[in-house]
Amino acid sequence: MHELMVRGGTPLRGTVKVKGSKNASLPVIAASMLTDGPVVIEEVPDLLDVRAMIEVVQSLGARAGYDPSRERLDIDASALKSLEPPTELVQNMRASFLVLGPLLARFGKATLALPGGCAIGSRPVDLHLKGLAGMGAEYSISGGVIEARADRLHGERIYLDYPSVGATENIMMAATLASGTTYIENAASEPEIVDLANFLNSAGARISGAGMKTIRIKGVEGLYSTRHSVIPDRIEAGTLLLSAAVTGGDVVVNNVLTDHLKPLMAKLKETGTVVEEVDPASIRVIREDRPKGADLKTMPYPGFPTDLQPQFMTLLALSNGTSLVTETVFENRFMHVDGLLRMNADIMVDGNRAVVQGKNTLRGAPVQASDLRAASALLLAGMAAEGTTIISNIDYLWRGHSCLEERLNNLGAQIECRAFPISYRAEKTGE
Ligand code: UD1
Repeated sequence: MHELMVRGGTPLRGTVKVKGSKNASLPVIAASMLTDGPVVIEEVPDLLDVRAMIEVVQSLGARAGYDPSRERLDIDASALKSLEPPTELVQNMRASFLVLGPLLARFGKATLALPGGCAIGSRPVDLHLKGLAGMGAEYSISGGVIEARADRLHGERIYLDYPSVGATENIMMAATLASGTTYIENAASEPEIVDLANFLNSAGARISGAGMKTIRIKGVEGLYSTRHSVIPDRIEAGTLLLSAAVTGGDVVVNNVLTDHLKPLMAKLKETGTVVEEVDPASIRVIREDRPKGADLKTMPYPGFPTDLQPQFMTLLALSNGTSLVTETVFENRFMHVDGLLRMNADIMVDGNRAVVQGKNTLRGAPVQASDLRAASALLLAGMAAEGTTIISNIDYLWRGHSCLEERLNNLGAQIECRAFPISYRAEKTGE
């Protein structure tokens, strides 16, 4: 286990580069199980979750070689030996459930554990299963393990009751090799869905409409070798922009796709923060005065992302005003509030709403991270606070960010990592 010691109070200044997207990399790795030939994936960040996903596909018999210095992943899934990833791997990371659709579509069979419960809500997989069943899959669940079968999946019109990101990805991947045409209606339209569709199309799939409410997938006989570069991580970009804002700094964040950050940019402007689109790949954030309060409601894309709600709450905790934060995506995503309260914030939680009464200062304190985005929110709070903050359980941060502390230190932050001689074992993911 590790903890971070953060000495707060220095406004961040300079330029920082965003890495490739975690939430785009994980489904693309799962999707490579559909391909019959070597695949090269670039801009894959060196994260605990990426390493775990690589272990999942290796456990199936895929050959996978990751070069962290080049952020390049080579996968060859032409000769898989198993259709049953080990339970421990699947339970520790929800995204590993994304191999279900590919295995079922390509081999007609898969056995895997249901993803475990996790910190930010119950997160069922009913929509994934309903979609696959609509395409002809049969499944049984016993002892927390699902066994699914299908002679050959067939195209279908599938309406998702909720635009789930994971369900859209699983169904879209499965449909690439189904007979006939599949329509996913009320599909999730997150940029990571578009990136996955681009990857699949480059391997020979016929997907149109990704990023819109209805996605059409015409089934093909097979998917083949390809090369793909993962999109920049919009959540990491947002976290860096918010780091500048909470510390009253002036930072240019490079390697972003500004279109993906519109909801955050609009909200930041509402707080009086200066946000400049330097060019289509860089955003500059400057904050001099105390931010104003702003109400916030998380929504599926293009609404405000739930993955930035905790970090934005840190900014609101320092605002000159009262803000209402409503979390509509996950039912239990206020785990960061406890830490912020210890740091002198004034926040009252009632169900899925939090009323944030802004304070002039936050004060350093010992706090504990409960999941990846809570870790980010507390790190931001620590950088903005007076005094020293110790954040324990910080390994969560590395599930989603590579070398974030070093990059923040290059901007003037004072963050030190301390390790403990307790063997680290990844806990159930927050995402
Ligand atoms: C993905 C992201 C995560 C992000 C989330 C929402 C990855 C690896 N993770 O998670 O970072 O916070 O999207 O943008 O990409 N639900 C159901 N039934 C289902 C599936 C989902 O009820 O079958 C519910 C969930 O409980 C949750 C909501 O739908 O309340 C959103 O979940 P979903 O969009 O599926 O998120 P994930 O794909 O798990």
